[in-house]
Amino acid sequence: MAVPRLFIPGPTQVHPDVLAALSQPQIGHRTPEFADLFAQLQPRLRRLFATRHRVYVSTSSGTGLQEAASRNCVREGRRILHAVNGAFGQRWAEVSRANGKEVVVVEAPWGKAIRPDQIAEALRDGPFDAVALIHNETSTGLLNPLPEIAQVVADYPETLLLVDAVSSLGGTPIEVDRWGIDVCLTSSQKALALPAGIALAAVSDRALARAKEVAHRGYYFDFLVFEKYLARNQTPATPAIPHLFALDRQLDRILAEGLEARFARHAALARRVQEWARQRFALFAEAGYESPTVTAITNTRRIDVEALNRFLRLHGMLISNGYGRLKGQTFRIAHMGDVTQGEIEALLERIDAFIA
Ligand SMILES: Cc1ncc(COP(=O)(O)O)c(C=O)c1O
Repeated sequence: MAVPRLFIPGPTQVHPDVLAALSQPQIGHRTPEFADLFAQLQPRLRRLFATRHRVYVSTSSGTGLQEAASRNCVREGRRILHAVNGAFGQRWAEVSRANGKEVVVVEAPWGKAIRPDQIAEALRDGPFDAVALIHNETSTGLLNPLPEIAQVVADYPETLLLVDAVSSLGGTPIEVDRWGIDVCLTSSQKALALPAGIALAAVSDRALARAKEVAHRGYYFDFLVFEKYLARNQTPATPAIPHLFALDRQLDRILAEGLEARFARHAALARRVQEWARQRFALFAEAGYESPTVTAITNTRRIDVEALNRFLRLHGMLISNGYGRLKGQTFRIAHMGDVTQGEIEALLERIDAFIA
């Protein structure tokens, strides 16, 4: 069966040069060649996250680093405030609970943004060791107002800000240091347009200081062990070495495009898809908070989304149904990663042919 071009919110399409990088000969992870490669990744990763701190590379998907953030940043008997307005916010709260953390949830309806004053009100009932926020809710196509929420959290020096940027990093500006984010985590297979299999996290000095006060950080995702090995340009356990070759190649491609240009391309694609969707359907996300990387479209015409995807497959394309309970009621078009204007135009043209 021919593999369709992916317009789903991860995995996204990977450039052939990056795929080719995966098949380079293996190197040992305790060799000088590896240390060179790993060292060369750091400055480019720091640019990507706009941080002067470190960026850990984890052989896991993004969920692993959600677990890492919850485990390392919340002390025994202390609480974590989870902002939940979609499936991934819910999931991260579950991750914290599964790690024995005391979770307090502040909620907004799916498709509505978390308001900074909701966080402010919840924090007044503190103390909290951390606030956990999904920057871009992939399930609803909504971008939460991270800089404004970060400003609120900054009033509480004991409270760390943990941000899931799984479907936003690389597609929209995120200023880790300037906004005061303590852990900013992402997966490879979304706006970075890498194969699935690794995850990245910018981690602040404050987060590391907190980790020292947590007795049970687990084993595989212990930030202090990540830090010890990073100092030697290594990882604690055998990493997904082919993915590091791919990351090396893709960081060069991303920086050659230019971060500003990359963000502008994402913004233009988002505008195009959202304008198209407004004319034919409606947007699921609240006005003013539409995601720059994935658009969730309310299925006002009651089209058969599975039939649409079968039709698109015939033309070598694939979009996404609504997430979980939104299946059928919404569908999602991702415009993240290396996708071009021409590819989006071709997709929209095909969907127009289906609904005509
Ligand atoms: C916002 C968000 N957080 C977390 C995840 C989980 O990431 P992963 O599948 O890389 O563990 C996803 C996956 O789609 C996501 O969109």
